[in-house]
Amino acid sequence: AGARKKGSGGVASPDLNDSAPSMCWDDDVSHSDGTVRAGSKVSTAEVEAKRQSLDRVRDCCLRALGQVAAEHGGGGGAGTDNKGGGASFAIHGGAAHGVVRCFFLGQPSTTPGDCSFVVSGWPLRLAGMLLDRAKEGEVLIDGLDARGPVSVTEEQGLRTYEDMRRRGLLSSSTSASSPKSLSPSKSSKSSRGGVYLYANAYLGTLAARRVEQSAENALSLLLNELRPVAIVFVGLHCLSNVDPKDSKLLQLANDVFISLTGITHSCNGAVRDMLFEDKGCTFISVFGAHSHEANPCFDATICAMRMQSALSEELELDRFSLGVSFGDCFCGEVGPQTRADYVVMGTEVNMAARLMGKAPNRGALVSKRVYKNARKHVEFVKSEEITVKGKDGSFHAYQPLTRLRRISSRGSLYIFDETHSKALQQPFIPMPSRQGGMKSMMKALHGSAQGSPRLAFVVGGPFLGKSRLIREVADKAGDADFTVLQSFRTSLDSDSSYFPFRQIAEMALQKCAVRVLGMQKPPEDEVAAAKLLLEHDVLKKIDRVNIGSIVPTVTDAQLMSLLKGQNPKTMIKAIVDSLMKVLRPLQPLMLVFEGDGEIDPSSWGIIRELMKRAARECPRLLLVISSRSPLNVPSSATSLLSNCVRVEIRPIDRAESKTYLKVLLGIQDKTVDVDERMLDAIHDRANGCPLFIEYIVTWALDKKMIDYNEEENKMIFTASEDGDGEDVAAVIPREMSNVVLSAFNNMSPMLWDALKIASCIGYSFDADVYESLTESLGLMPKL
Ligand SMILES: Nc1ncnc2c1ncn2[C@@H]1O[C@H](COP(=O)(O)OP(=O)(O)OP(=O)(O)O)[C@@H](O)[C@H]1O
Ligand SMILES: [Mg+2]
Repeated sequence: AGARKKGSGGVASPDLNDSAPSMCWDDDVSHSDGTVRAGSKVSTAEVEAKRQSLDRVRDCCLRALGQVAAEHGGGGGAGTDNKGGGASFAIHGGAAHGVVRCFFLGQPSTTPGDCSFVVSGWPLRLAGMLLDRAKEGEVLIDGLDARGPVSVTEEQGLRTYEDMRRRGLLSSSTSASSPKSLSPSKSSKSSRGGVYLYANAYLGTLAARRVEQSAENALSLLLNELRPVAIVFVGLHCLSNVDPKDSKLLQLANDVFISLTGITHSCNGAVRDMLFEDKGCTFISVFGAHSHEANPCFDATICAMRMQSALSEELELDRFSLGVSFGDCFCGEVGPQTRADYVVMGTEVNMAARLMGKAPNRGALVSKRVYKNARKHVEFVKSEEITVKGKDGSFHAYQPLTRLRRISSRGSLYIFDETHSKALQQPFIPMPSRQGGMKSMMKALHGSAQGSPRLAFVVGGPFLGKSRLIREVADKAGDADFTVLQSFRTSLDSDSSYFPFRQIAEMALQKCAVRVLGMQKPPEDEVAAAKLLLEHDVLKKIDRVNIGSIVPTVTDAQLMSLLKGQNPKTMIKAIVDSLMKVLRPLQPLMLVFEGDGEIDPSSWGIIRELMKRAARECPRLLLVISSRSPLNVPSSATSLLSNCVRVEIRPIDRAESKTYLKVLLGIQDKTVDVDERMLDAIHDRANGCPLFIEYIVTWALDKKMIDYNEEENKMIFTASEDGDGEDVAAVIPREMSNVVLSAFNNMSPMLWDALKIASCIGYSFDADVYESLTESLGLMPKL
C-alpha cells in the first residue's frame, strides 16, 4: 500500500499500526503468481485467508483516509471538497495483494546501514501503478473484486473514522500526527539494550545514530528540522526484477548493495534505503543529514561519480543511472513510537529521483544547486534542457566529469620555517601561567648563545600551548641568528630507532651544505646535500654510513651492513662524531623535538652523548624536547635530568581565557568587555584549553553569533540577548568534536584526503604511497 500527499514530494506513511507500507508481505499465500481469481483451483481456506487480508487492507485504508481527512483535511473535516489548498492534506493510494520476495542484502556487521531487508515483487509495482491512477482522496485496491481494482474514498473513510470514534475504538496512542510522537522516545532507547549486536546493521545509518547516542548529543539538536541535504538516487534498472531463485542476480544485488553502501560511508554519507517498488530498484544516500556543515554537495557528487565508476567498471552493470539534488528537506523522526523511522523528505527527494530518470544510461545528472556548490572542486558539463514532472518549464542539469586537482585552502597549514612562522600565527599571548616557563626558556636560550649548552623539557596535556611557546622561543632564537631545526614524532614512531633525529639530520645536511660550501640555495634534498659534502671533504665515507643509520636515504644497504654487530655504545659515539660535523657549522643552534610519542632508547643515547660533548664540540646549543606526558628517560640517560630546564604547561584559568578571548575577537579598545555569561560558557566548554577556545570562537564568528552590544559596551552571544543564562551555554554545540571538526570543512577536499590518509599512516609519507592509497584502495573520495 502506498499513500502520498498531493502536490508535494516525499512519502508519508499513514500512521496506523496495521499498515506498514514498505514492509507488507504475505507469506500465507503460496502459489506462484500470487493472483487468486474466483473459480481457480485454490483451496477455499486460501481464498478465505486472502479475503481476510484484503478486508484488513481495506479497513486500514479507510481509516487512514478518514483520519488524515479529519485531522488534516480542509473545511473542518469536510474532506471531500478539500482541493489541496492551504494546509489541507489529502492522500491517495494503491494496494495490491500477492506473493512478494523478501531477502536480505549486505554482510554480517555491527555497522549501521551495512545490511538491508528488502521486499520486492509485482504487488509492490501494482500498488505503485494504482497509486498513480488514484485520484486525490482515493485508494485503489486490487484483488477485492475479480472485475478489477475497487475504489475506496475519503468520504467512506470519514464515515468509518467517525464511526470508530463514536464506538471508542481509537486509542490515543495511535494518534499518529500528535507532535508527541515526534519527540525523542524513551522507549526506543531502553528497548535497545537487548538488541542483538549484529541487528544494528539493519538500521539505517541515520536511525541508528539517532538511537545510539543519548538525547544529550548533537544529533538531538538536529531532530525534526529542515536541513540542507544532498540526496543521491541510484536507479538500478537491471535489478528491478530480482528473483531469489536466480542466485546469480541475487549475488549481483548483494555486491551492488555492499559496494554502494561502502562508497556512501566513505564519502561521509548515510544510506537511506535500497528499495524495490513500482519505479524499479533504487538505492538512496543522504548527505548532510547527520553532520554539521560539511559540503554535502561535494560529498554527494563525488559519491555519485564513484558509484558510477564502481557500477560500470567493477560490477559491470549495463543499465543504471544516478541523480543528485540539494535543498532543504525535513529530517527527523516520523511515526509512532512503536515503529518510528528517521526520514528525509521534501521536494528535493523527488528532484533527485527525477534527475535519475533523465540521466543518460550509466550516467549521472546533478541539479543546478549541486553544481554551484561543487563546481570549485569538480568539473561538470551542462546537459540539454530537460523538463521534469512537478517542475514548471525546462532547465539545465549538469553531468559531473572529473574531480579538479586544485589546492587552495582557507585553512592554514602550520609549516615550521623561521621565515614564515611569524606570518602564519597569531601573536603569542604571554598569559600569566606561561610567563614563568617563557622566562626559563629565554634564560636557557641566552645561556646557550653564550656558549653553555642547555636542554629543556616542555611537558603538558594536549593542545595546551606547548608548541606555541616553543615557537615563540624559536622566533626569538631566529632573531638572534640561531639555526632552528625541528622534528615531529608520533606514538607510532617510537619503535623506529633514531626517528626523532631523522628530520633534523636531513635539514642539517642541507643547511650545512649552504653554510659550509657557500651555496646560494639549498641542494634539492638530503641525498644531494650528503653527496656534495662528501665531494668537498666535509664528510668522510664513514660519516655517510653513520648518518645513514638515521637517514637511510643517504647511504645504501651494502654500506649499512658494515655496521652490523657493532657495540651500541660505540655506534652512538660514531654517529655523534658524524652528526657533530654537520651540526657544528650551524651554531648557534636550537634543536626542537616535538610530538606526543615516546622517544626511542637509541635516540636518548644520542641526546645524552650530544649533551655530554656539546660543551667542547658544539657549545652554542639549545635542545628542546616537548611531550604530552612526562617522558620516560631511560636509566642510562638520567644524567640529563640533573641540569635541565623543565617547563610545565597547564590549562589556562578563567581570567586567561578572557584575555585570550579578547585577542581572538580582535578587541583593541580596552573599555570593551566580554559578556561574563559568554565567557563562562566558553571557558567551561573549552576546559581551559586555548585551542578549544579558538575553535569555539572561530565557529561562532563563522556563524555570526558573536556581536558587539553597544548598550553594554561588550561582546555578547547574539542568541543570548533576551534569553537567560542557560541559553548562553546551549548556543555552543554540546560536542566539542563538532566544533573542532567543522574547522576541517574550510580545507580543500585535496587537503582533506591527505589528512585522512595521514591520520592512518603518519605525519609524512611518500607521494606514491598516497597515490596508491587513493587510487587503488579507494580509501577516500578519489578521482
Ligand atoms: N600563549 C598563547 N598565545 C597565543 N596562542 C596560544 C597560546 N597558547 C596556546 N595558544 C593557541 O592554542 C592552540 C594550541 O596550541 P599548541 O599547538 O601550542 O598546543 P600543544 O600543546 O603543542 O598541542 P599538542 O599536544 O597537540 O602538541 C594554538 O592554536 C595556539 O595558537
Ligand atoms: Mg604541539
